[in-house]
Amino acid sequence: MDNMLIDSNKTKILFVCLGNICRSPAAEEIMRRTVDEAGLSERIEVDSAGTYGGHRGELPDHRMRFAASKRGYNLTHRSRQVREADFEEFDLIVCMDDMNYESLHRLAPSREAAGRITRMRNWLSPELFPDRTYIPDPYYEGAEGFELVLDMLENACANLLRELYS
Ligand code: 4NP
Repeated sequence: MDNMLIDSNKTKILFVCLGNICRSPAAEEIMRRTVDEAGLSERIEVDSAGTYGGHRGELPDHRMRFAASKRGYNLTHRSRQVREADFEEFDLIVCMDDMNYESLHRLAPSREAAGRITRMRNWLSPELFPDRTYIPDPYYEGAEGFELVLDMLENACANLLRELYS
């Protein structure tokens, strides 16, 4: 993402992971609350989707809903697969790992559209997460994997909003 300049219209951000039941629905809700708390909900809209459609229609994974609820997030998103129209609709498409990044590039209808794809790790504070180059998939992990993902997403969402509005 070279150009983070935001015009006066609403900025639409799509968070993307593989299944859209763990990382990206959590990112969506964390960003929504971050934006709300900054009084910017009129300016920024968020959604999430997965590159894999096998969980479509499902609520987020119960382990992620439980971990998120302890921090006050109510995850109600229903899983959906990324579609080509998302590249028209969203200003920023933020993915969790390199596999998502490559899948999104294969799906992007144009070079201009592909230019909207970026990685969540770009907004991690290096002093907090020094060796992290992606948001790890917690699906096959224990409870601590979900806590780590939430810690990373809270940090990245705060930094992303700061970059958009600084
Ligand atoms: P997510 O986690 O990409 O963070 O939603 C996963 C969810 C489901 C699967 C993999 C990752 N799966 O293989 O079904």
